[in-house]
Amino acid sequence: MPAPCFRLTTLLLVVQFLNAAAPAIAAQSPTPSTGPVFTEEQATAGRLEFERTCAPCHAPDDGGERRAPALSGPSFRDKWGDRRVRELFVRMRDGMPPTGVRPQGDGYANILAFLLRENGQTAGARPLDPLSYDRLALASSGRRR
Ligand code: HEC
Repeated sequence: MPAPCFRLTTLLLVVQFLNAAAPAIAAQSPTPSTGPVFTEEQATAGRLEFERTCAPCHAPDDGGERRAPALSGPSFRDKWGDRRVRELFVRMRDGMPPTGVRPQGDGYANILAFLLRENGQTAGARPLDPLSYDRLALASSGRRR
């Protein structure tokens, strides 16, 4: 009975091919910007807003001597890197700054884009959706500055 035997061989070959191809496909996923999308314009606007509203308390990076934790650098990435965009957005929007004038309009989304850029993400063509369930995907190690 040659026919069924042939089909089985073909099937095995296909399975073997898929097994061999899987790691190659996984290895092709781009490393630099697997995180959420945001534009350069957002990050630049966010920088101004951050300097004005957040930087008085938040050091720009680890090692600062201000009152609040740094929002970039290894310890921030360790803490937030695997969480979702909307979690960080809500954390900021609902609690920061603790007192005083709050950013208006797109202010918080822009600050979030700025923080993504500060933590090593690359800007792209589409604006950030601050309520997205995407992971922040900040590298917790290996990209320390
Ligand atoms: C008056 C000082 C002050 C200002 C201004 C301020 N923060 Fe904070 N922020 C803090 C302090 C203190 C903490 C740590 C205690 C806490 O979690 O509430 C904190 C915590 C945070 C956290 C959590 C950090 C972590 O490691 O989990 C985020 C995110 C944050 N702030 C974002 C912002 C943003 C964005 C702004 C500007 C819109 C801002 N903060 C303005 C004092 C401030």
